[in-house]
Amino acid sequence: MACPPLAVGLIGYPVEHSLSPAFQQAAFDALGIPARYELWPTPPESLDERFRSLRAPGVLGANVTVPHKRAAFARVDHVAGRARRAGAVNTVVNRGGTLYGDNTDVPGFLAPLRERGVPLADLAVVVLGAGGAARGILVALGEVGCRQVTVANRTAERAHELAVEFGVVAAPLDQRLAPHLARADLLVNATSVGWDGASLPLDAALLDALPATALVYDLTYHDTPLLQAARRRGLETIDGLGMLVHQGAESFRLWTGREPPLEVMWRVALAARQARERSTH
Ligand code: ATR
Repeated sequence: MACPPLAVGLIGYPVEHSLSPAFQQAAFDALGIPARYELWPTPPESLDERFRSLRAPGVLGANVTVPHKRAAFARVDHVAGRARRAGAVNTVVNRGGTLYGDNTDVPGFLAPLRERGVPLADLAVVVLGAGGAARGILVALGEVGCRQVTVANRTAERAHELAVEFGVVAAPLDQRLAPHLARADLLVNATSVGWDGASLPLDAALLDALPATALVYDLTYHDTPLLQAARRRGLETIDGLGMLVHQGAESFRLWTGREPPLEVMWRVALAARQARERSTH
């Protein structure tokens, strides 16, 4: 009798918009691994039950997304150092009924910069945002020892808290950010602003303060108004699709112990994004 396929899935609420099922399934199929990547929409009241189900034999683990990344932290048995520092778990691995939590957003964020040969240790970086995404970025920037990191947020208090915790500088998200931008090699948007295709997290005129060689990186996996405004000024940009694929590839490596087929994942993620954009425009 054939064995039932292994299960792995995405825990979040909602999860329907995700591109992960498309490129993760393609990766399992490409390597001939009999696993199915499923959507596991989970309201907060069902989170305990969902995590219990991850301990079953035949479950490889899960990805965790909004709004459960922080809650997942308390529901696994072991937490990797980088996930502990980020205060968030985005990947769970089931090893014989024991759950391991990790945060693959951390290496996922760095991968597109490494691919471009960006000299990470030399960088002066301005990070916009002080939520969960920004925390993951600060962990990544700390790992590579960036020269100077400034965090700016609409609610100044939250930027100050992060600055103290991560030993970086806080700045207001207004004109007073200009001198920090003038020294920056990299501007990262880790706010949730931009998904609507209409708003920017900061006054676009502030981008004029950036050096002509600066790179603008938006964690949103679409072409956002911020990236468009940056390109109009002749700046190089990176959107969040590379980070999405690389965090997924790292999760795949953790679940399977196999080298992820990055080219397949990248191709399918691009196609899935295009299909999504066609259906929403
Ligand atoms: P995530 O886990 O995705 O980072 P979050 O914790 O809700 O989500 O954080 C969202 C981030 O986007 C915050 O930095 C938030 O700023 P506040 O701390 O001031 O709320 C930022 N953000 C959301 N809407 C914004 C807006 N309209 N303008 C500027 N920043 C905004």
